[in-house]
Amino acid sequence: MAFELLEIEGEQELTKRKDSYIGGHYQPHSAVTLFQGDRLQLLEEIPDKTARLIVTSPPYNIGKKYEKRLGFDEYLKLQRDTLTECARILAANGSLCWQVGNHIGKDGEVFPLDIFIYGICKELGLKLRNRIVWCFEHGLHCRKRLSGRYETILWFTKSDNYIFNLDAIRVPQKYPGKKYFKGEKAGQYSCNPLGKNPGDLWTIPNVKHNHVEKTIHPCQFPIELVERLVLALTNSGDLVVDPYIGAGSAACAAVLHGRRAAGADTAANYLNVAKERIKRALEGELRRRPLGRPIYQPSPGDRIAQRPAQLAPAKSIQAPLFATA
Ligand SMILES: C[S@@+](CC[C@H](N)C(=O)[O-])C[C@H]1O[C@@H](n2cnc3c(N)ncnc32)[C@H](O)[C@@H]1O
Repeated sequence: MAFELLEIEGEQELTKRKDSYIGGHYQPHSAVTLFQGDRLQLLEEIPDKTARLIVTSPPYNIGKKYEKRLGFDEYLKLQRDTLTECARILAANGSLCWQVGNHIGKDGEVFPLDIFIYGICKELGLKLRNRIVWCFEHGLHCRKRLSGRYETILWFTKSDNYIFNLDAIRVPQKYPGKKYFKGEKAGQYSCNPLGKNPGDLWTIPNVKHNHVEKTIHPCQFPIELVERLVLALTNSGDLVVDPYIGAGSAACAAVLHGRRAAGADTAANYLNVAKERIKRALEGELRRRPLGRPIYQPSPGDRIAQRPAQLAPAKSIQAPLFATA
């Protein structure tokens, strides 16, 4: 499904072009819905069993500028309300992907949000298919605990009969030249010519100030993270919903691959950014890190990879326990 861009102010216009517009309220044939307001208000507009994929990164209750810090139980109650509505709108063969990190208590205690979200989703009858570890390698440096370098995506389905397009997300093998060494196929190449299963550990750079996708939003998804989920868990024309859409990364990933999208955010400035990015995605002009680009590794000759002479000698730093290459 290819979308043409048509922005429409009044919903009346829908009768003219049902499948090609960015609207503010959910309509069955809308290409993109960007709802300004609370996520429950948008979800209420979406009929039962309509979304093939719900993918989001909710506020973590850590005092970011877009959230009010709440008591942890109160926060979990709001997450339960969101998840309950999401389970209602999820198609029988659909998937729900909740991407979370840690809530940090005022005294520095760490609460891994996925542990709590898992319990809520189980109560709602959803089944976990993978706990994907999103490793991003860079970030803040902690002083009183190890620096956090991963978050997780809990992938749930509503039933045992779910869409999973593995071939759409295969990645190159490490040893494509490997052959069977015994048996009937001895001497033949053993790898799948389409590539290997990408596994449940995804190393994808997070969106920091030097990332090509960086906007005013402080916590964007990298588009390639959502693209993998969109390609694997939906088909062309399906609806992808993000109840906390921020700068619209999930919607961009959806429309780039001919899916429809709907999302809510309370902040008008983020939605404006989302709208611009979606427009560019529809027009083929969105700047983004391409899906599958290898992680940049500096060569030993790069100036940035060399230790300045005025720093303490490298031998005073403990060598890594494991090679990272
Ligand atoms: C972690 S960010 C999501 C970022 C998004 N994944 C992206 O790529 O830009 C959470 C978003 O939830 C929004 N938000 C907070 N409370 C909300 C609510 N009650 N309903 C809808 N959105 C809300 C915030 O404004 C923020 O943009």
